[in-house]
Amino acid sequence: MERRVWAIYFSATGTTEKVVKTIARELGNMIGAQVNEINYTLPHQRQKEYEFNENDIVIFGSPVYAGRIPNILLPFLNSGFRGNGALAVPIVMFGNRNYDDALIELRNILEKDGFCIIAAGAFVGEHSFSKILASGRPDFKDLKLAYNFADKIAEKLRCTIMILKFQWKYQVKNQYVHIISLVIEKVFLLIF
Ligand SMILES: Cc1cc2nc3c(=O)[nH]c(=O)nc-3n(C[C@H](O)[C@H](O)[C@H](O)COP(=O)(O)O)c2cc1C
Repeated sequence: MERRVWAIYFSATGTTEKVVKTIARELGNMIGAQVNEINYTLPHQRQKEYEFNENDIVIFGSPVYAGRIPNILLPFLNSGFRGNGALAVPIVMFGNRNYDDALIELRNILEKDGFCIIAAGAFVGEHSFSKILASGRPDFKDLKLAYNFADKIAEKLRCTIMILKFQWKYQVKNQYVHIISLVIEKVFLLIF
């Protein structure tokens, strides 16, 4: 089956959308995969359920509200996605105050949804409350960082896809799989 990259985001003022799409498109180019999009900003887009499989790589974005994932989204984020072992990259956008617990919160939600996390990032976007805080961001430099980040994900995919599939399949059955996969990863990194 063909690999697919997904850009999935909530973005009331467009900054999360910009960064998530930049990463997804660059990653799609790097690995030669088709890029799809789910924009769950409007309530009707949160009525559906979305299912993925192990051929999917999901770039999953949310803005930071009060240091957390917006609480109005939590019911949907906790029940609207079935990862089934798909790879995921949580991305949070913050207005240059702080992202506090938001990134780890999104990581935890996606793991519970059945995704395997392979990378994660926090990016700065103009603060929705003002035109002064982080004005005009993400700017050229931020988007360059997003491109570089996507290239690093593509690099990491080379060796981790095999390991994560193995981990996903045996995680419940064998407590030593994590250690074994860490050893395999180190060997891969030494070879390549
Ligand atoms: C209700 C609310 C709370 C926010 N809380 C934070 C915060 O705790 N820390 C921060 O750095 N930015 C905060 N922001 C700014 C947003 O995270 C930031 O502007 C983000 O880029 C918005 O994403 P969007 O353009 O995709 O909607 C807040 C914005 C809103 C609307």
